[in-house]
Amino acid sequence: MKDDIRIVNARMWDGFSLVNLGFTLKGGRIARIAADSHLPEAERTFDAMGMAVFPGFIDSHVHLRDFGDSHKEDFLSGTGAAVAGGFTTVLDMPNTSPPVTTAPVLVERKQKARGMILSNVGFYSSPATIDDVGALSGAGSIAFKVYLASRLEGTIDYSNMAQLKNLMSRIRSEKGLLVIHAEDATFFLKKENAGIDYRPVKAETVAIDKVIEAANRTRCSVHIAHISTMRGLRKVTMAKMDGTDISCESSPHHSLLDQENTSMSSLTCCVPPLRSRSDREAVFAGIVNGSVEMIASDHAPHSLEEKQNEMVPGFPGLEVTLPLMLDMVSKGALTLKRLCELMISYPCARFNLKDRGEIREGYWGDFTIVNLKKKNRIRADKFHSKAKYSPFDGRDVTGSVYATFVKGRTAFLENSLVGTPGMGEVLEGNAIPS
Ligand code: DOR
Ligand code: ZN
Repeated sequence: MKDDIRIVNARMWDGFSLVNLGFTLKGGRIARIAADSHLPEAERTFDAMGMAVFPGFIDSHVHLRDFGDSHKEDFLSGTGAAVAGGFTTVLDMPNTSPPVTTAPVLVERKQKARGMILSNVGFYSSPATIDDVGALSGAGSIAFKVYLASRLEGTIDYSNMAQLKNLMSRIRSEKGLLVIHAEDATFFLKKENAGIDYRPVKAETVAIDKVIEAANRTRCSVHIAHISTMRGLRKVTMAKMDGTDISCESSPHHSLLDQENTSMSSLTCCVPPLRSRSDREAVFAGIVNGSVEMIASDHAPHSLEEKQNEMVPGFPGLEVTLPLMLDMVSKGALTLKRLCELMISYPCARFNLKDRGEIREGYWGDFTIVNLKKKNRIRADKFHSKAKYSPFDGRDVTGSVYATFVKGRTAFLENSLVGTPGMGEVLEGNAIPS
């Protein structure tokens, strides 16, 4: 029996550099990697036309919404945005309506996603109580998330140190990972006086102190979402040197936009807020030097009406993150190797995703074909997300996604979604049977 597809004329990322190797796919997995002339026969040949072929990019921080917020985004539009942005796997945040705080909600969410998704999706949960951790883990929660500044409806207050430590102990016993939105609301200023600056740097640094203390006490693995300040990053880096199992991510907006280079408006409103230029530069330096381990989009779509009328925080990010970072590579600000660590290998390892993260025989056929030279203007009106606006709208970038394959099938090709809803996999999490 022939293999299903042969990818030829590829410059394949092998973890270190781009090499002239092709591969075949069979049953959704990588069957054989070889020089084109040594590839086995296949039903179909796909010509990569000399473009770069990477293992599928992974975004560990995405709000796919759906459920009660499907006017903002649903599983199909959100994963459409994912594959259009070069991501084959995204991890979905639990601040949904209703929020994912108990196992039955998680099960329902996974069930609904199953027939709709174009990319692979893993699901976070935010446990209602410590006692929910086991069931959520058993139901396939990919990791846990808590919001220290604004707990999700129905959860206990994890900004309370005792509760946070209890939660971490329990997650540690499940060998799980706790992702934290690290802001301490007691340091928020009055919105009326402080405007966009009502969530000051100190709110982040104090929350990070709390997380480090609790993580050291419990030895739980923790990850700080969207780090935004120099002082916060310094604390995370120092803790790491002391042996704390802590990592952090930056969003493209906290590493590329600041209050000086961006015109601040309800459109650019996000939390944590865009910071000063020096904070932004420190975060970008962390991306380059490795103290920030991942880039994640924090794709947070809202309807345009909500954005304009209510100052709701967040904006879509799935379709700009990879092009923006490829552009940094083209400008010499980031190496291709570093980009692949930030957006493929590290998230894959941290979230323990099996059989993904490399183009390797036997692994899933998740890969992204990129034209590294193609110049493009970011056009929010062309987004596949329901949210068609972006603080990066109109920016010229070099480097563009040509095609995205999920489990051996084409999901996105030349500006169009070509996949079948349901082709993505619902990731089952890493529950350790007890
Ligand atoms: O800007 C943000 N938007 N930050 C968050 O933490 C939540 C997110 C959302 O869900 O809209
Ligand atoms: Zn978020």
